[in-house]
Amino acid sequence: MEANKKRILVTAALPYANGPVHIGHLAGCYLPADIYVRYLKAIGKEVLFICGSDEHGVPITIKAKKEGITPQQVVDKYDGIMKNAFQSFGIDFSYYGRTSSKVHHKTAQEFFRHLYEKGVFEEEVTQQYFDTEAQQFLADRYITGTCPRCGNPGAYGDQCEKCGTSLSPTDLINPKSALSGAAPVLKETKNWFLPMGKLQQTDAFQDYIKRFDHWKSNIKGQCASWLNEGLQSRAMTRDLDWGVPVPIEGADGKVLYVWFDAPIGYISATKEAISAKSQEPTASSLSWQDWWQNEETELVHFIGKDNIVFHAIIFPMMLMTHGKYILPSNIPANEFLNLEGDKISTSRNWAVWLHEYLIDFPNREDELRYVLTSIAPETKDSEFTWKDFQTRINSELVSIFGNFVNRVLVLCDKYYGGIVPEVTEVETHNALEKVKEPRRICFEQIATSIADMEQNLKEVKLRDAQVNFMSIARAGNKYLADTEPWKLYKTDEAAVKGILFDALQICAKLAIAAEPFLPHTSKKLVGLLGLNQVSWLQLSSEVIVPAGLQLNKPEILYKQVEDEEIAKQLDRLAQIKLANSQVTQSSNLAELKPNINWEDFDKLDLRVGKVIEATKVPKADKLLNLTVDLGFEKRTILSGIAEYYQPEELVGKLVTVVANLAPRKIRGIESQGMLLMAGNDFGKLFSVSPEQDIEPGSVVK
Ligand code: MF3
Ligand code: ZN
Repeated sequence: MEANKKRILVTAALPYANGPVHIGHLAGCYLPADIYVRYLKAIGKEVLFICGSDEHGVPITIKAKKEGITPQQVVDKYDGIMKNAFQSFGIDFSYYGRTSSKVHHKTAQEFFRHLYEKGVFEEEVTQQYFDTEAQQFLADRYITGTCPRCGNPGAYGDQCEKCGTSLSPTDLINPKSALSGAAPVLKETKNWFLPMGKLQQTDAFQDYIKRFDHWKSNIKGQCASWLNEGLQSRAMTRDLDWGVPVPIEGADGKVLYVWFDAPIGYISATKEAISAKSQEPTASSLSWQDWWQNEETELVHFIGKDNIVFHAIIFPMMLMTHGKYILPSNIPANEFLNLEGDKISTSRNWAVWLHEYLIDFPNREDELRYVLTSIAPETKDSEFTWKDFQTRINSELVSIFGNFVNRVLVLCDKYYGGIVPEVTEVETHNALEKVKEPRRICFEQIATSIADMEQNLKEVKLRDAQVNFMSIARAGNKYLADTEPWKLYKTDEAAVKGILFDALQICAKLAIAAEPFLPHTSKKLVGLLGLNQVSWLQLSSEVIVPAGLQLNKPEILYKQVEDEEIAKQLDRLAQIKLANSQVTQSSNLAELKPNINWEDFDKLDLRVGKVIEATKVPKADKLLNLTVDLGFEKRTILSGIAEYYQPEELVGKLVTVVANLAPRKIRGIESQGMLLMAGNDFGKLFSVSPEQDIEPGSVVK
């Protein structure tokens, strides 16, 4: 769908501030958004480009726990890293906000309260998973388990990343706490739900979803399957302590669901953008409401496919029930980018990190932009490999674009001291048969490429648009190859002037057209051509670089990517792969022991016991001294679990006891049995306990 209105608000998904940005983020969301925005600005649209850090949600708190720092420290660290990386790659946000800001908290709370006062939410007491060890409710990513839809054992409480299904914690099979690994218990709690099933039936929503017809097929497909199944109410609040506090009475200790607050971050960032820019001399007179509550504005969300339901269904429902807001007019969602045959993964460090790329390939940001746009996962998942990176840069950017520009600038320098030659109509157009036809073909080709490029940019088909851009350089190269001005120079100087004059105009067109894709190069090339300012409208001009203008000394635009540079990157990945495989091996489950027969098993007397006393064994780090009630008698049992359980946690707990194990003296104390514990050799141990309260002494069989 095209942007027809004069004002366009473009958003790029707020990245979680729990890790640095990698090429998958860039290719999937930020780069396409940036190219589109640069194009819209170039054709004179009024655009606001909004992004920021998503600083709430469970991923942040999990990261904090892992690193032993506070969530606030996590977000402060990554907010800066992400912001810098985006800036280096020329992702030109109008404003980059953060959801920990005051303005955001206030905006999100007001939004919530507005819906609450309108009576939109269903208030419901439900059973939610609770980790008794961590004394915490387990929302969203605090809980993992098996996906009921595809069987992925690593699905999260809010979503299965394998099949994309959105989940509730209670949908998971074999749920486990991500905090302790323990099986959680259900506990009652009150939350506020958005009645999505009900809202789905409203005329406003039915009217809104007609827009999907014009959108990309991945959005259409995912949304259709959601809508066909019928939407379910979804809690907009969570029992967590990190987030925006729920601003109503009776909601102590609860925060807004991160997917409620984060998209409102687009609105808060807009407010902040307006007030930050109001100081600038070029400040526009628009208010934040002009961007969000005015039908003259188009709203376009750039996201990755895992964000589809939130942007295409939930956020629009929030906006629509609020009442005043515009709804998205397009959501160009991308698929995923893989890396060297494997899914990009932050936790496995399987990624090309932007901040690392900047160190290994300084001043070569546009090269990565080029490659990532060439392979952008616009319609299906795609793959980044270092070999392909090298090939695309060397045989396209260097050999076609870079080479063309360099040849032209070097020849002009050599023949005319870098001054744009004066040409007459006769000299250029009619001089030689050898020149005439190639020239006609060249300019025809360029006109077509520019028209196609513009159409593709409008339709957010950026991969194709960039191919069209390269065709301009290809056409220029062909013109030079066909006319061979370096040979002609000795015999027909006038014709050479004409050819190089043409070629300089093509360079200028390239400089202009490169801006959305390769902004650093565009700027450099404009400078090399001795131009101050150029405009997109000049793409159709015949003369952009006027005769008599002094060009700057030729410089190459791109250098070759050497084999050693690629080898170094591949080496790094190989090391990560090796490290990862060692981790998997070390956490491998123990090998199965040989079969035993029934009699062997029957010799064991397993009983339920109740721990009635527990103390540490002096001078033994690992041992606890337990008194266990077996119903018919009390036993002293020593157990090597002091690293995993505090003595007081165990008192009152039911456990499984090997009741007929011969007594054994440990540290001078006789241990009269053994507790059954589950765990592997490297991880934590958990007591094997009956699910229900059952009488001590009961037989386990
Ligand atoms: N932080 C989310 C992610 O990385 C995206 C949030 S987009 C917003 O998947 F709309 F909520 F802001
Ligand atoms: Zn799944």
